[in-house]
Amino acid sequence: MSDRIDFNDEDSNRSANPTFDSVLTSRLNRRGLLLGGVGSAVLTACGGGSGGGVAFPIIPPAPAPAPAPAPGPAPGPTEKLLGFGAVPKSLADSVLIPAGYSASVLYALGDPLTGATPAYANDGTDTGFENRGGDHHDGMEWFGLGADGKRSDSSIDRGLLAVNHEATTDETLSSFFLHANGGTTTLPRPAAEVDKETAVHGIAVLEVRKDGAGKWSYVKDSAFNRRVTPLTEIDIAGPAKGDALMKTKYSPTGVKTRGTLNNCGTGKTPWGTFLTGEENWFGYFTRAAGDDAARSNDKSVTSLKRYGRAAGATSRHGWETGGADDKYQRWNISKTGASVDGTDDYRNEMNGMGFVVEFDPYNKSKLGVKRTALGRYAHESIAFSKPVAGQKVACYMGDDARNEYFYKFVSDAVWSEADANPSDPLATGAKYLDQGTLYVARFDADGAGTWQELSLSNPAVAGFAGYSFANQADVVVNARLAADAAGATKMDRPEWCATNPANGEVYLTLTNNSNRRIEPASSSQLVPDPANPRVYTDFKGTTAQSGNPNGHILRMADAGGNPASTSFRWDVYAFGAESGANADTVNLSKLTADQDFSSPDGLVFSRSTGICWIQTDDGAYTDVTNCMMLAALPGQVGDGAKKTLTYQRADSTQYTVDTMIGKQPTADTLKRFLVGPSGCELTGLCETPDGKAIFVNIQHPGESTKQADLADPSKYTSQWPSNAGYGAGKRPRSATIVITKDDGGRVGS
Ligand code: FEO
Ligand code: CA
Ligand code: CA
Repeated sequence: MSDRIDFNDEDSNRSANPTFDSVLTSRLNRRGLLLGGVGSAVLTACGGGSGGGVAFPIIPPAPAPAPAPAPGPAPGPTEKLLGFGAVPKSLADSVLIPAGYSASVLYALGDPLTGATPAYANDGTDTGFENRGGDHHDGMEWFGLGADGKRSDSSIDRGLLAVNHEATTDETLSSFFLHANGGTTTLPRPAAEVDKETAVHGIAVLEVRKDGAGKWSYVKDSAFNRRVTPLTEIDIAGPAKGDALMKTKYSPTGVKTRGTLNNCGTGKTPWGTFLTGEENWFGYFTRAAGDDAARSNDKSVTSLKRYGRAAGATSRHGWETGGADDKYQRWNISKTGASVDGTDDYRNEMNGMGFVVEFDPYNKSKLGVKRTALGRYAHESIAFSKPVAGQKVACYMGDDARNEYFYKFVSDAVWSEADANPSDPLATGAKYLDQGTLYVARFDADGAGTWQELSLSNPAVAGFAGYSFANQADVVVNARLAADAAGATKMDRPEWCATNPANGEVYLTLTNNSNRRIEPASSSQLVPDPANPRVYTDFKGTTAQSGNPNGHILRMADAGGNPASTSFRWDVYAFGAESGANADTVNLSKLTADQDFSSPDGLVFSRSTGICWIQTDDGAYTDVTNCMMLAALPGQVGDGAKKTLTYQRADSTQYTVDTMIGKQPTADTLKRFLVGPSGCELTGLCETPDGKAIFVNIQHPGESTKQADLADPSKYTSQWPSNAGYGAGKRPRSATIVITKDDGGRVGS
């Protein structure tokens, strides 16, 4: 993590809804004794990345061959999951994977997605990103294609990857790797730079194939290839469709908007469509200093503040300064028009971002659809309960910002097996995702929890003093405010969630939280609670990092195995920590050097092997190791025990919190599988249905490179993937890699 403004760590929850121990909090003094400070010895004990891992050979892309027939033999009886040798922590600028595995780069920033698009020069001269790979690859899903070019859920050698392109690497305003001279770092931004930067955001759909020799490549001229950018027209559906909150100059009836933005985690519906979560979209909009008064301090001001846009907020890239054209002006959400309803300006434009958006990956003529019933917040992934005929369908979603919440949506419709492969997938999406009930989680003591309904049927929402909700459109657009009202538990940055196919339990990564304190010094700081129980200081070199710097992974089981249930049990599957940290206060899961991780983010269960893949997006342990991916074979909620953590306050009184810790992982149930190149995060994972190929995203290698060093590649903090033989130029690029096992076995064995 650099000292730049972190647009990925928003902090706008000043709600007064109860923390676990608000009474105690109010009596706390200024400073507390820190428990479990980590010794520095461990920080020097780590090697630089050879050991059991291998830096993989990179094979440059080639024209797509004909699809290969004949899948390999089924896994033999001798297969041992997690049988690979653990990869050591590493600071090397390469991808490390276990011996016996191979990986290659498949699809990187700028790669052509049409036959007519030239190869990527990677020197800032490239244009036409509407037909090229986007930047900052993130969540990703696999959609099988049969030989007939139609959906096939059994295909293992041909498919579509639907990929999120979350953001772009910047220092001050400019995405400098995209521009020959680094671009402008002052306002106004030139239109040509803005156009390029806008177009690297959004999503991509691309066809991939495996040839007869087992080599994967993407199909440059596939008719399925598609880019959706922040300027592509999108439909609005669900409660907010046509509501007054959605009316803009672009869509005076409030039924459409343009684009999807800061696409982070993903989901795949039980009916075969792609879902993408819009995360840190608020940072792209600007709002004038005098806008509270221009809005007569109406309730929209409350909403804008709760979503990170106080009056005077500046935008991440200054796209609103690209010119008079509407496509630039829409990034200014100040009230500038004279209308009562906002149809002559973009005062409501930000209400069109922050949703889960559904796409039919097989049909690029269909617009994406914002499923507003699922709520508006900083979305990560979307995980579905296993659909059961005759039962309602649930999906689970995190809101990634400090002190934000975990949500569940339950459909009104009950599942019909006939919907698993529908003729009109987006109509099926409307059936299950436009009508239902949105809930937010409250985590209580002793592993209990309840889902609080977010609707005017909940008296706490209907009678909320902090904001007056007009209708369900207002509730979903302002889901954070409704969750404040409902008394949701403030969490340590909810990232991805995923459903364990073995038992239906839902796992949730909580990446870290610098706002936890034993003795809070401001309203943004929280005391630890049962589900977010750790406060400690971790040293990165000599820099103290306080709060919960390494994060943890929760899991929960809805009561009775019924996804519509409003109560659940929970525990902590694992706490992130350095292996050398105090095992009684910090390294509570007793992670070894082959298992230790920090800031879990991406989380995906393999439907083939059942392996839980854990990916990190870390800034705390990165003096020791680059970000990584681990393989886990977890147990179930309640397989561990209760643990009491005791903290000392400055006045020598104690604060205790009970948490529930899952069974300690062993060398056979948790193991590091991959370490990425310098400055990257690992994020996004999907697989072929046989589990023999996994696709993984390497996001923002070289992120901390200084724009002033652009002319000197030796100063780039990463040169991946060019240093591994992929593509022209030295500028680092986000990319998708594919990993296979050399003996033809399943990945993770
Ligand atoms: Fe896009 Fe919270 O990670
Ligand atoms: Ca994430
Ligand atoms: Ca992230």
